[in-house]
Amino acid sequence: MDSIKTVRAIQVLDSRGNPTIKCFVETGKGQVSAMVPSGASTGKFEAVELRDNGKEYGGKSVQKAVSNVNEVIGPKVMGMNATDQEAIDKAMIELDGTENKAMLGANAILSVSLAVARAGAISEGKGLFEYLGEKFGNRDFRLPLPQFNILNGGKHAGFEHDIQEHMIAPLKAKSFSEGLRMSVEVYHELKGELKEKFGARAVTLGDEGGFVPPISSTEERLELMVGAIERAGYSGEIKLALDPAASEFFEDGKYSIGEKELGAGELTDYYLDLCSRFPIYSIEDGFAEEDWPAWQEFTKRMGEKIQIVGDDLLVTNPKRIKKALELKACNALLLKVNQIGTLTESFEAARLAKKNDWGLVISHRSGETSDAFIADLAVGIAAGQSKFGAPARSERNAKYNRLLEIEGLL
Ligand code: PGA
Ligand code: ZN
Repeated sequence: MDSIKTVRAIQVLDSRGNPTIKCFVETGKGQVSAMVPSGASTGKFEAVELRDNGKEYGGKSVQKAVSNVNEVIGPKVMGMNATDQEAIDKAMIELDGTENKAMLGANAILSVSLAVARAGAISEGKGLFEYLGEKFGNRDFRLPLPQFNILNGGKHAGFEHDIQEHMIAPLKAKSFSEGLRMSVEVYHELKGELKEKFGARAVTLGDEGGFVPPISSTEERLELMVGAIERAGYSGEIKLALDPAASEFFEDGKYSIGEKELGAGELTDYYLDLCSRFPIYSIEDGFAEEDWPAWQEFTKRMGEKIQIVGDDLLVTNPKRIKKALELKACNALLLKVNQIGTLTESFEAARLAKKNDWGLVISHRSGETSDAFIADLAVGIAAGQSKFGAPARSERNAKYNRLLEIEGLL
């Protein structure tokens, strides 16, 4: 048994230059740490990310959350066994006492939860993915099929009324490393084409490492992606996925994309048309987080043909996942650990998805750090799929590089 000796947090920066939390946990075996990510197109029902709203960092500093780790959570979990993940997460949930972790902050709680998992892995002398697998009850370690967001739109690119993410996924690759290589080749093909067509500024990168050319038509973006896949020689082997993040352009019952204002039925027809013209295998957050009937209708019509992923709809929250299962509102879960705030609850969400034969996609946030915890998580619980952004920018590639490392270990 390795009990927790100290818990200490500091404020560090994320990939957007916003403050976030890094937490250090020490046991007799040494010190480990974890950093938490942060979203931009956040769901209304996510656990609360505590920010100070003061003058520093434009109101975005996280000093209160940091002191909650140092002064409230730390003293509570010190002395507990580092491998008692469930008990530690439960203690933090009770200490917070709110439904959405608004008291201590989901960012504060998650930083401890993840660092404790690393301490637990060291305590048992295991690699992180192995340890997470054991906690989850899985021994069948598998590298995920990655979704790469190679054209950034919406909030991640400074646009409004726009589809947010345009992704490629190497469905036919024989291994993770082969899929990564194929996708990187497509990424560079696309880069060359964009540069030639629109000039050097078109290949500046959005928050998730995808390009931001001066176009907002999704059709045009998908055509460019299909062209790049063809030229790279992977037609039929790499498919497309979209994350419209539709809550961002939903207002008063209408969806505004570009100049168009669409009702849920019209938006459904729009997606059906896109799916008939492009090799799209997955659509995430095609509808707003509260528009349950639209989700149900879309799943009824397309659920057998494509993957329909709930992100803002589900916010990795077991209660909302149960509701979606009951209503048959989607067929896959996007899992973001900071939407719910503890590893134990993330496991519960993942178990629900797996038990019900849903797809399961482990996801980063648009604001990330060099922490690659979610790469180990994806393998450890054999999620099957990952969404860690484009194969560019070190906070994204930290995850891909860790997956390459794990592939070498297995
Ligand atoms: P976010 O975007 O991290 O800004 O919420 C990612 C996503 O929508 O999946
Ligand atoms: Zn999303």
